[in-house]
Amino acid sequence: MLPGAEELAVAGADEFARSAGEATRGGGLFRVALAGGSTPRALYRRLTRPPHRGAIRWERILFFWGDERCVPPGEERSNYRMARETLLDPLRIPPRRVFRMKGEEDPARAALAYEDRIRRHVPGRPPRFDLVLLGVGEDGHTASLFPGTAALGETRRLVAENYVPRLREWRVTLTYRALNASRRVIFLVSGAEKAGVAAKIVKKQRGYQALPASGVSPRRGSLLWLLDEAAASAF
Ligand code: 6PG
Repeated sequence: MLPGAEELAVAGADEFARSAGEATRGGGLFRVALAGGSTPRALYRRLTRPPHRGAIRWERILFFWGDERCVPPGEERSNYRMARETLLDPLRIPPRRVFRMKGEEDPARAALAYEDRIRRHVPGRPPRFDLVLLGVGEDGHTASLFPGTAALGETRRLVAENYVPRLREWRVTLTYRALNASRRVIFLVSGAEKAGVAAKIVKKQRGYQALPASGVSPRRGSLLWLLDEAAASAF
């Protein structure tokens, strides 16, 4: 538990650097799936500044995403755009190391194409990301796995198109199969509005299984929840 949003960002950046260091020390690549939404902004900005900037071997990182809104990459709501502005552009990461979900395409096609790219660039059967960053919504969704949606039941595919009736929109998302094959998953949660849902999931309170984020549990990996004080206030 961290006092405020800024401390949360620092802790997240420290963990990112530690995971990247472990993967790249021996000359390997680090394959990370980034979170969307607004919480990770501060973490991404942190990573572009000292001391993290100089401590990470950026040239050995491949960037993926946990989910994407079905909008063109230049739109305000694009998760890719958020990461590009806060992280990738400031660090001048070349496009060949950036694997974005194509929110501007037909969702089913974009999901299939993304699965194919993952299979080609992330080793393991099923492919294992070194790190997946995730957020959680007040309704318990994570990535674009929303309560009551079809992608929750997907057991074979790594990436799915997912219609979210409440939002009346399509999303593209990693499935539990991909998330739970990862070496490490970190949830970043900030703000009092997330307190109820965070406590319910982490403390396994009654009804927690109905919340999609509770299904994230890496089989051979680790799971870490980073919360600021407000988000942890219902514990
Ligand atoms: C998205 C997400 C989503 C997000 C949570 C938390 O594309 O919307 O990736 O799962 O992480 O909704 O979002 P905030 O950080 O904005 O609260």
